[in-house]
Amino acid sequence: MKRILISDGLDKAAIARLESLGFAVDQQFYPSEELGAALKNYDAVVVRSATKVRKAHIDLAKEGKLQLIIRGGVGVDNIDVAYAEENGIRVKNTPAASSNSVAELALAHMLSCARFVSIAGHSMRQGKWEKKAYGGGIEISDKTLGVIGYGRIGRALGQKAQALSMRVLAYDVYQDASLVCDTMQYVSLEELLQRSDFISLHTPSLDGKPLICAETIAQMKDGVVFVNTSRGGNVDESALLAGLESGKIRAAGLDVFAEEPSRNEALLAHPRVSCTPHIAASTEEAQGRIGDEVVHILQTFFSL
Ligand SMILES: NC(=O)c1ccc[n+]([C@@H]2O[C@H](COP(=O)([O-])OP(=O)(O)OC[C@H]3O[C@@H](n4cnc5c(N)ncnc54)[C@H](O)[C@@H]3O)[C@@H](O)[C@H]2O)c1
Repeated sequence: MKRILISDGLDKAAIARLESLGFAVDQQFYPSEELGAALKNYDAVVVRSATKVRKAHIDLAKEGKLQLIIRGGVGVDNIDVAYAEENGIRVKNTPAASSNSVAELALAHMLSCARFVSIAGHSMRQGKWEKKAYGGGIEISDKTLGVIGYGRIGRALGQKAQALSMRVLAYDVYQDASLVCDTMQYVSLEELLQRSDFISLHTPSLDGKPLICAETIAQMKDGVVFVNTSRGGNVDESALLAGLESGKIRAAGLDVFAEEPSRNEALLAHPRVSCTPHIAASTEEAQGRIGDEVVHILQTFFSL
């Protein structure tokens, strides 16, 4: 019987299906110092983002029977993938399962930023009625959305934005000409920064200097709305805060942060920041689809 460790939780229906397929499933989160030894006893481990599988864990796990690490979600930056694969442990993820959920949260942040939804709600819960302060909102219709990274999530957001009467400019190192139409075109990063009223970031975690930094912010339109649901490291938070304080950036919607949980109080408390604690993929529907994909991967991998 194959033993599976579910480290950060998985949809209940998926766990029931795994058990009905004959897998022995344990649900347990191990602290980092115990994880490597625990992994020796499992054929596969399923993680989300909380569990970090690093070289030291892999060195211990490879002495046991671990064959497969599954990341339920997209980014695999919490796993030392190359090292695992070099040591004969395969790494798989569920790349498409949460794209729509993430795109919907990016759109929610765009609307929240445009109409002060987050800060106005906070103000009302403090007993205030600040109709004037939050009355100067903007519409998203007929505006230009710049999407940096036009992959699964970027495209899902682009389609929704076009349906809401926005024009979409996309910047990506890879381009799919079949997506170009009257309301969507690929442009250079410079052109996107200069022409967009809203900018949403959807690249993978990029190494090196953050893509959104003082230099790229300086090229943006005055009063731009910026949204990041990709990875916190893609944005220089000090430069973002400076942009908000100067008014260069009208508002920012953030689901991901340089450090998580974020302790950047100046950014989180800024009245023009709409923020969520890395929940873009956390919908009932996405959890269900992630569960389905995890079951499929395990079934296929172990030929059950
Ligand atoms: N907030 C969340 O909970 C959450 C959930 C899922 C995914 N994500 C993040 O969303 C991001 C996008 O996920 P996806 O599924 O759309 O990935 P994807 O691979 O489908 O798309 C990423 C796109 O970025 C492009 N790209 C890569 N490097 C680039 C660069 N330097 N400049 C411009 N474009 C570049 C790629 O060509 C690709 O088209 C990832 O960072 C992922 O970690 C966040």
